[in-house]
Amino acid sequence: MYKATDWERQATEALKSIARRQDLKELVGRTPALNGLLRRAAARYVAGDARKDGLEAVRGLLAKGYAVSLEYIGENTADAAACEAAAGEMAGLVGELGELGIAARVSFDLSHIGLAVDDGLAFGQLMGLARQAREHGIELFVSMEESAKTDRILDVYKRAAIAEPGIGITLQAQLNRTPDDLAGLEGLGGPMRVVKGAYRESADMAIGRSEALNERYLRLVETALAQGRRVSVATHDEALIDAVIARGWAGQGLEFELLYGIRPDLAGKLKASGYPVRVYVTYGEEWYLYLCHRIAEFPPNLYRALADVAGEAAVDSVSAYD
Ligand code: FDA
Repeated sequence: MYKATDWERQATEALKSIARRQDLKELVGRTPALNGLLRRAAARYVAGDARKDGLEAVRGLLAKGYAVSLEYIGENTADAAACEAAAGEMAGLVGELGELGIAARVSFDLSHIGLAVDDGLAFGQLMGLARQAREHGIELFVSMEESAKTDRILDVYKRAAIAEPGIGITLQAQLNRTPDDLAGLEGLGGPMRVVKGAYRESADMAIGRSEALNERYLRLVETALAQGRRVSVATHDEALIDAVIARGWAGQGLEFELLYGIRPDLAGKLKASGYPVRVYVTYGEEWYLYLCHRIAEFPPNLYRALADVAGEAAVDSVSAYD
């Protein structure tokens, strides 16, 4: 497990604060020079601003033998019209993927399409998308957000999954409640993604990166498989991936899923060993927050971001995948 230096820790804490500052986000948006520089760093993790950029990246990855997920980035959208616009973009994406015959999984935060306004709006949008996804043969996947929203996300998800059983859900191993949440989903047979968790949570609710977390992660995967689900092991932690492989689970309804631009070498190694690998591609204009998250969760990415900003050629992450 990577041990950050003191100053790397300070820098990433600063970055997490910066990510939450709306004024700074607006400043980046209206300052072309700053926007252009940061956009160069974001290119490693975000395919582009427009849907066509996301589609181009997933086509490139599919041609190399990877399965793909696509997310139109956004979260905590507090305005109903903006939620409808976001759901409209996702509906357009589902339709276009269906027409092009691209078997991508479409992932999103419920707070991007209504949860930050009210649960009824999120439920209605999710149902609309799920019906459309079923018609086009596209898999829809709900991401998991901070613990203050877990109950509401699971409630909206469960209600929708009863009517549309193919919808997937993401669970976070770091939360102490998650084993109970998984037990509560028994009988709803949709696919599941297990992640460690990207949000900072209080010590009474969650455990940090540790062996104990990895053990809980493995138990969750085992239980989800025992429930008869397809499971995505969504992590870049090589020791954890090795533990999954050692248990003989890989391939038996289980795939590995990695974020676009992160450890393409590991994705390639897993694929070459014959394991199913999915790459999670993002696109959209809300790349700023996404970039901050990716740097904050792995401090050495600060250096990489600097090199990407200063580099002569723009980053093309698809070419990094074998
Ligand atoms: P961990 O953080 O312990 O890192 C282990 C090792 O992986 C590091 O030592 C490093 O080698 C490598 N690594 C990790 N992050 C890296 C980075 N940014 N750059 C380079 N190397 C890195 N979270 C959430 O709360 N809700 C969600 O819905 C999702 N959805 C989701 C989908 C997919 C497909 C993935 C892969 C991840 C998520 N996440 C998420 C994020 C997840 O919770 C977690 O924050 C990140 O995956 C980082 O944790 P790891 O499991 O990789 O391990």
